[in-house]
Amino acid sequence: MNEPLLAVRGLEYIYPGGVVALRGLNLSIERGQKLAILGPNGSGKTTLLLHLNGLCKPTRGEIQLDGQPVGYDHQTLNHWRRRVGLILQEPNDQLFAATVSQDVSFGPLNLGLSDAEAGERVREALEALRVAHLAGRPTHALSFGQKKRVAIAGVLAMRPEILVLDEPTAGLDPHGVTHLLGALQQLYEAGTTLVFSTHDVELAYAWADQVAVFYEGAVLRQGETALVLGDREVLRQSRLRPPLLLEIAEALGNGGDHLQSAPRSREGVLALLQERLAGNS
Ligand SMILES: Nc1ncnc2c1ncn2[C@@H]1O[C@H](COP(=O)(O)OP(=O)(O)OP(=O)(O)O)[C@@H](O)[C@H]1O
Ligand SMILES: [Mg+2]
Repeated sequence: MNEPLLAVRGLEYIYPGGVVALRGLNLSIERGQKLAILGPNGSGKTTLLLHLNGLCKPTRGEIQLDGQPVGYDHQTLNHWRRRVGLILQEPNDQLFAATVSQDVSFGPLNLGLSDAEAGERVREALEALRVAHLAGRPTHALSFGQKKRVAIAGVLAMRPEILVLDEPTAGLDPHGVTHLLGALQQLYEAGTTLVFSTHDVELAYAWADQVAVFYEGAVLRQGETALVLGDREVLRQSRLRPPLLLEIAEALGNGGDHLQSAPRSREGVLALLQERLAGNS
């Protein structure tokens, strides 16, 4: 049972026109984990995510689902996309129906569910993203953050096993980020595997089980969050700053071999700080 749920092996992708976006990329997505993908602009994060549900077909290399190379025929793609839901960074690229409830019900109806079952899925998904009050609104007349939440609800309504999100928190207000992470946390606790790209190292540190750092179309390092984000050489190469909470934990003596047991939440780091201050007084 150690086989990754989804694996990317030697993936190369060249865009029409000749831009080489992925250069022999390897990545493992473990069942039930939260994997954060970090890396500078243009390092291939979006291109990789588009491969995870078959929207892009590799130039070379392969994607494996449950250890088996995936196919690209219509039936296989349909089956694959039921299991892996992809949420694009730009909600306007994802929303297409006239109203919010029509948009979110499209997936469940397409799965062959009855109107009543699809209606229940829509209600549940809209509530999870706290946008139930927008159900009857035209999709084009929503704010960016509202569109983003509706786009996520549309994928959630399909109940995918793996949820892939391209910069899910970008453009959301702090309240929106908290709600979104709460909804994703619930899915995670119910067994959904989460893969998300982000420029926010603090979010990756606080929230991910594993991190993969991208640079120029390849993975510099993938592994346990604290170990990867504590690797100064990898961060320097990919032009990332270490998370502040990790730097504070290190300064308080949780570096080196203790990195994995360092607190990763604001509350945890503040409690450690208070403990040390009390010890010094
Ligand atoms: N449609 C496209 N046609 C040609 N080249 C593209 C296309 N989309 C992306 N690229 C190129 O592929 C490379 C990887 O781009 P990608 O969008 O995957 O990066 P990214 O890591 O998601 O960046 P960002 O952090 O800016 O979102 C870049 O060199 C980019 O210019
Ligand atoms: Mg991108």
